[in-house]
Amino acid sequence: MVISHSCSPGTKLEWFLPLLILVAATQVHGYSPSGFLSIDCGLTNSSTYNDADTNLTYVSDSGFVESGKSYDILSQYMKEASNEQEKTLRSFPDGQRNCYTLPSRSGKKYLIRTTFSYGNYDGLNSSENGSPFLFGLHIGANFWTMVNLTNWNPTDTIYKEVLTIAPDKFISVCLLNFGSGTPFISTLDMRSMDDAIFPFLNSSVSASFFSRQRFGEVNEYITRYPTDSLDRFWEAAQRYKFPWLNLTTNQKVYSVPGNDNFQVPLAMLQKASTIQSNFSWLNITVRAGANMNGESLQLLPIFHFAELEKTNTTRTFEIYSDDDLVIEAFSLPYLQATSMYRRDKYVNKSRTTFTLRKTNSSGIPPLISAYEVYSLVRIVNLTADSNDVDYMNEIKKYYNLVRNWNGDPCSPIEYSWKGLTCDYADGKQNPRIIRVDLSTSGLIGGLHLSFMKMESLEHFDLRNNQLDGPIANSILQRVKAGQLELRLEGNPICSKVKDRYCGNKNSTPTVLIAVIVPVVFILLLVLVCILWRFCWKGKSGVQEDYSIYEEETPLHIDIRRFTYAQLRLITNNFQSVIGKGGFGTVYHGILENNDEVAVKVLVETSIAESKDFLPEVQTLSKVHHKNLVALVGYCQNKKCLALVYDFMPRGNLQQLLRGGYDSSLNWEERLHIALDAAQGLEYLHESCTPSIVHRDVKTPNILLDKNLVAKISDFGLSRAFNAAHTHISTVAAGTLGYLDPEYHATFQLTVKTDVYSFGVVLLEIVTGQPPVFMDPQTIHLPNWVRQKIAKGSIHDVVDKKLLDQYDASHLQTVIDLAMNCLENASIDRPSMTEVVSVLKVCLPASTERQSATSTPRKKNIMDAEIPRQFQLMISGATTTSYEGSSFQSGYTGGVSEISHISGR
Ligand SMILES: *[C@@H]1O[C@H](CO)[C@@H](O)[C@H](O)[C@H]1NC(C)=O
Ligand SMILES: *[C@@H]1O[C@H](CO)[C@@H](O)[C@H](O)[C@H]1NC(C)=O
Ligand SMILES: *[C@@H]1O[C@H](CO)[C@@H](O)[C@H](O)[C@H]1NC(C)=O
Ligand SMILES: *[C@@H]1O[C@H](CO)[C@@H](O)[C@H](O)[C@H]1NC(C)=O
Ligand SMILES: *[C@@H]1O[C@H](CO)[C@@H](O)[C@H](O)[C@H]1NC(C)=O
Ligand SMILES: *[C@@H]1O[C@H](CO)[C@@H](O)[C@H](O)[C@H]1NC(C)=O
Ligand SMILES: *[C@@H]1O[C@H](CO)[C@@H](O)[C@H](O)[C@H]1NC(C)=O
Ligand SMILES: *[C@@H]1O[C@H](CO)[C@@H](O)[C@H](O)[C@H]1NC(C)=O
Repeated sequence: MVISHSCSPGTKLEWFLPLLILVAATQVHGYSPSGFLSIDCGLTNSSTYNDADTNLTYVSDSGFVESGKSYDILSQYMKEASNEQEKTLRSFPDGQRNCYTLPSRSGKKYLIRTTFSYGNYDGLNSSENGSPFLFGLHIGANFWTMVNLTNWNPTDTIYKEVLTIAPDKFISVCLLNFGSGTPFISTLDMRSMDDAIFPFLNSSVSASFFSRQRFGEVNEYITRYPTDSLDRFWEAAQRYKFPWLNLTTNQKVYSVPGNDNFQVPLAMLQKASTIQSNFSWLNITVRAGANMNGESLQLLPIFHFAELEKTNTTRTFEIYSDDDLVIEAFSLPYLQATSMYRRDKYVNKSRTTFTLRKTNSSGIPPLISAYEVYSLVRIVNLTADSNDVDYMNEIKKYYNLVRNWNGDPCSPIEYSWKGLTCDYADGKQNPRIIRVDLSTSGLIGGLHLSFMKMESLEHFDLRNNQLDGPIANSILQRVKAGQLELRLEGNPICSKVKDRYCGNKNSTPTVLIAVIVPVVFILLLVLVCILWRFCWKGKSGVQEDYSIYEEETPLHIDIRRFTYAQLRLITNNFQSVIGKGGFGTVYHGILENNDEVAVKVLVETSIAESKDFLPEVQTLSKVHHKNLVALVGYCQNKKCLALVYDFMPRGNLQQLLRGGYDSSLNWEERLHIALDAAQGLEYLHESCTPSIVHRDVKTPNILLDKNLVAKISDFGLSRAFNAAHTHISTVAAGTLGYLDPEYHATFQLTVKTDVYSFGVVLLEIVTGQPPVFMDPQTIHLPNWVRQKIAKGSIHDVVDKKLLDQYDASHLQTVIDLAMNCLENASIDRPSMTEVVSVLKVCLPASTERQSATSTPRKKNIMDAEIPRQFQLMISGATTTSYEGSSFQSGYTGGVSEISHISGR
């Protein structure tokens, strides 16, 4: 009879480490050594028990997993179960990935073992009915192995072990549903190990069990804890007969302190096997079983010995894998534990014969006590930032979210939590959570504090929930500073707050919009209808095929070419306008990889004739500097003319300078921005041939990334447009208040035109004033500053928002520099190189900041070869062909065969 118990998700979930430890600690009654966690999966009896063979305390899995259902194996197989753990299991019919979360210590080594005893618990005969029955295992965010139970006896048990280093304060063990049978698990054992053990393990290398045997006259089929303090499973190698010989000693075997990297139980080393003295080699074959895909395995063998015979000659031998020498000749000291392995030597085979061959100088044949073979598991995928994980778990718990949020939130990407977007940092750092979409998720209550602690979070969508209650100041500050985009429309809280995050445009008279928008919209609609009929007479079909507008470009341009349809998609049908300028309108867009971009749709006048556009794009695509906004792509066809840039989340300098006190920049930030902008211009002037004159240097064209690094935008455009469209050039080549008086008089365009405009920008940075303003009459900023200085009060020009927090001597330098840039005669103005060097003097070198995008963001391509290879790696197991095995349930890994024939 099948007794099934259902576990509703999220009911008894203990998420936090202290709680997990508490669960483990209170349930373990002291027989288990510390560092052991033994979980009997599916055990619903809240009482724990001590295993009859090992005396280890087994606990229920309810505190370590959220999903799945508990089952007992069929009653007819109960009698055959070799231990309690085989009798119950947890099965996961729902979800692609289900995970156990085990408490760990970051950086510590662990042995983790899972066992699987099907026992036909679901009555489906899945292991015997001939159809594939297999599922996968992940260790953390990485593929570990495949569990293949196809064509197994229901009483058999498979076990899988992995040696790994905990990346964090918990390790997840996940079962993956491949659509070939329901994943389940019977036992989950976790043993912490010494730091010195298994020295080949590191943060990117783990090892999966392949085969492990001990030799000599051994009676039990499996040797484990307490004989082995690590609780490894050692199978007895029993299938050998004369001329193999059993060796046993009652002398103590000793290990050399500090040189015991494998901690093989010394009691085990009192037994060994050798061969009759007229033979010269021992062959041991290991191979992947029938249920294991042996492709692309990388095997690492480790051999263990202790000399048990006191002889008047030495026992010297070498070890080959097939015909490759793996271990060079060595001899065994009497009674000393000796382990041999080659850290760098993997055997890339699914079947190999190890030959222990005596050397010519050796008087006696080889001997062996035990061996272990592991297959390499590469840890390529990092787990998400540990704080982010904690916060997400808090949020999940706080709002009682019933979601299949399991294992690591970000990795591997195909199993990342639904609603989250992570920044994978090219696999160089732990992924960070940057977007959370919890819209329409039935959230009730306040805004949980964890949200604001997630420092990497950039977008947070909470629309259409039942959130009420105050928004913490710290959250509001991040929203105001442009670091966090918060969406709260459709929550009760928005009946009280009228702010941008509640869907209200700042300071826009809503009534007016309500009237104007529909009217304009209807007019437009009518107009479009008329045009449509006019242009598309006789044509039918609702969907316009934009591809007809695309045409080939004759030039080779390195950056991406977008189609109009793609631009529509990434800008969500040109919904969010983030700026308007002389060249057109700028929209916010999101690329497929979640990178944000600014899409500048250029004025459509005579697009078809704009012959200069593409060559100019080609030039711009080659201009790269940390203080120039990077061009990502472009669109050019009959339908559209657009440039796609990196999105600058902090907006432009004008907005920052004119903003309120809360967003105000301090003195040092201002100087940094000035220097950044100057460096961008210097690059255009000095490093490009011919020089690129910006012609429209002004604060709205100086954009800021999330680290407040300034980048010049709109450079290079004026030239492209100037040649073809003189009517635009009047708009483009300079903005009122920034105009170079000399250029105005002579129309001689030089780089010094930009220097003049930069002088105005510099004054704006210091004073916070616009280039032209009323005081009480219209006045040009440079004149206003001159008047103040003439009155002897230079300090009066400084922006009040600085609250007198600035360096007075540097103030003088900066004002002098600005005035110098503003000389009427261009020849008297400094070059941008000189400007840069003066500004550098005002800034201590140590405060160099990192540009957020100084290393160009590559797409998240990891070494494509390695993950694929390891995904294919299927480490499985099969029934052994041992006859007369006393261990009925057939705990097996890789198969080994020992052949005793040898040569002379
Ligand atoms: C379940 O727990 C009860 C006591 O709580 C105990 O008597 C019984 O043996 C347990 N059953 C199993 C299968 O462990
Ligand atoms: C298990 O532990 C108990 C308590 O320490 C002890 O009395 C018992 O002998 C142990 N049994 C085995 C099989 O080691
Ligand atoms: C499983 O096998 C048993 C015995 O062979 C049979 O009676 C039963 O109908 C099978 N169950 C299914 C679902 O095929
Ligand atoms: C690592 O992650 C990638 C993408 O998320 C996935 O395709 C791959 O299988 C993972 N690699 C391993 C070894 O799990
Ligand atoms: C060695 O011991 C095993 C029992 O563990 C036995 O099966 C085997 O026959 C012995 N071998 C020889 C050569 O005596
Ligand atoms: C699973 O095991 C079956 C039976 O041994 C075998 O035919 C099949 O190829 C295995 N599948 C994989 C993916 O290893
Ligand atoms: C070593 O001992 C064996 C017997 O154990 C003996 O036959 C042989 O002569 C000895 N060899 C030497 C060099 O003493
Ligand atoms: C044992 O291994 C050696 C070297 O690989 C090989 O030449 C020999 O044929 C093997 N013997 C058997 C019986 O497999």
